[in-house]
Amino acid sequence: MGRLDGKVALITGGASGLGKSTGELMAREGAHVILSDIQIVEGEKVAESIKQDGGSCKFRPHDTTVESEWEDICSEILDDYGQLDILLNGAGVGSSAVEIEEMDMEIWRRCLSVNLDGVFLGCKHGIRSMRKSNGGSIINISSILGFSGLATATNYCASKGGVRLLSKAAALECAKKTPLVRVNSIHPGFIDTPMVAGAIQRRGPEFRDYIEANVPLGKLGTPCDIAEGVLYLASDKAKFVTGTELVIDGGFLAR
Ligand SMILES: NC(=O)c1ccc[n+]([C@@H]2O[C@H](COP(=O)([O-])OP(=O)(O)OC[C@H]3O[C@@H](n4cnc5c(N)ncnc54)[C@H](O)[C@@H]3O)[C@@H](O)[C@H]2O)c1
Repeated sequence: MGRLDGKVALITGGASGLGKSTGELMAREGAHVILSDIQIVEGEKVAESIKQDGGSCKFRPHDTTVESEWEDICSEILDDYGQLDILLNGAGVGSSAVEIEEMDMEIWRRCLSVNLDGVFLGCKHGIRSMRKSNGGSIINISSILGFSGLATATNYCASKGGVRLLSKAAALECAKKTPLVRVNSIHPGFIDTPMVAGAIQRRGPEFRDYIEANVPLGKLGTPCDIAEGVLYLASDKAKFVTGTELVIDGGFLAR
């Protein structure tokens, strides 16, 4: 018996990093997984490899910043499976390592558009779809930078702080309605994915030193560390959990 047997899960940002790892774990736990992303070749590859390992998975191109694409993907899922039980809003972009005085509106908007507008649209259409079927669980990926600031990442921090409180407000709206939709946020620390590799490249090797010096457990986390947290919030074991923040950060915020 898997912990998600028969559930239907949509994972945005499923071609890479945390979304990919969560898709692999959810498929192993018995879910029908729909991975979506703007990286089409990579996404198809991940779905194929999950299928080869015996999981139920398909890939669907999807830009989370475009509302009509949310309408299309959600109605396709309801047509194909009759239900949507789990949504991981995992698509995101990093900051550009630019100080606020130098940050132009395009850099600001791009980050807010993917990291906050995309999650808002996901909650809006995810909740609508789940309420047409059996209810469900929405997990929004925020960050430790939804709690604490980082110089040269004003756009990223603003987007992740927004996701944290958007999730709570949506959870409260849903709490008294049936079927129930639970909404929670996850706050990863520094995790070894292409996004963090890119940040280390942009900010220089001293950024890795900063991470290792400031994370009490002394290293980067793995995508699986986050996938396990998502699995818990997605599963019926978390049926009394809504509006909460699950921090998985090697102790960073405990300091
Ligand atoms: N890696 C970390 O240390 C870390 C820490 C805290 C939070 N996060 C958050 O976790 C989430 C996943 O990040 P990751 O580390 O796996 O990065 P990643 O770059 O490996 O994966 C992000 C994925 O999102 C996709 N994406 C970007 N814009 C999109 C769009 N408009 N529509 C659809 N897909 C889009 C990318 O193509 C990519 O496949 C992000 O929200 C990120 O901010 C990551």
